[in-house]
Amino acid sequence: MRILTFQGSPRIGGNTDLLLDSFIKGAKEAGAEVEKIHLYRVKIGPCIECGECDTTGECVIPDDMKEIYPKIDASDVIVVASPIFFYNISSYTQALVERSQARWVSKYVLKKAPPFGKEKKGIFLSLGATKGKRLFEGVQRVIRYFFDAVYAKYEGGLFYRGIEKKSAIKEHPSALHDAYKLGQAVVKAPPENWPLVRDPSP
Ligand SMILES: Cc1cc2nc3c(=O)[nH]c(=O)nc-3n(C[C@H](O)[C@H](O)[C@H](O)COP(=O)(O)O)c2cc1C
Repeated sequence: MRILTFQGSPRIGGNTDLLLDSFIKGAKEAGAEVEKIHLYRVKIGPCIECGECDTTGECVIPDDMKEIYPKIDASDVIVVASPIFFYNISSYTQALVERSQARWVSKYVLKKAPPFGKEKKGIFLSLGATKGKRLFEGVQRVIRYFFDAVYAKYEGGLFYRGIEKKSAIKEHPSALHDAYKLGQAVVKAPPENWPLVRDPSP
């Protein structure tokens, strides 16, 4: 199983990074091949609406997405991890999301079959400082559409409120263990048995 993960926080060693690392540890120990991409460290610009992908399904912007598209296509599971910034995903994560437009065109305009015939699975990990009931509502919608564009079914994720200072996630009673267990389950169990939250908003 190939799992591609995106870490969307610029704070390396921060909460999102630690949460994702726990997931990765669980998945690797269960036998998956896992890659982690720090979105802060790669060069991915936003969509520029040039329209070049409209006829080909391929993006022409010359940046690091060139290497990332084939990785997305070849993966079985994609994990996006992002902190909440102004009730949104981080801008690094948003650039990735926008650039999935080329795959959206492949799927919905050019009606291309899924790459390698795979229906991928998508998981979202997120956290924020506040405790708002609807903190993850908007971002989940965004991520659901991202996964849909890259031929992945959004399964749900892990969501933590009240996490602010760098590495505060370590003080949370279960978060890192939850992520580790989820990483293991993704490899060993069918999606319906994955220990994740399907909708964190009431
Ligand atoms: C620019 C910025 C905007 C933020 N906006 C929100 C917000 O709207 N809601 C919230 O709950 N937390 C917000 N936070 C807090 C972060 O989500 C929180 O500190 C989180 O733990 C950061 O995760 P990280 O260590 O992975 O970067 C914001 C933080 C920053 C730096």
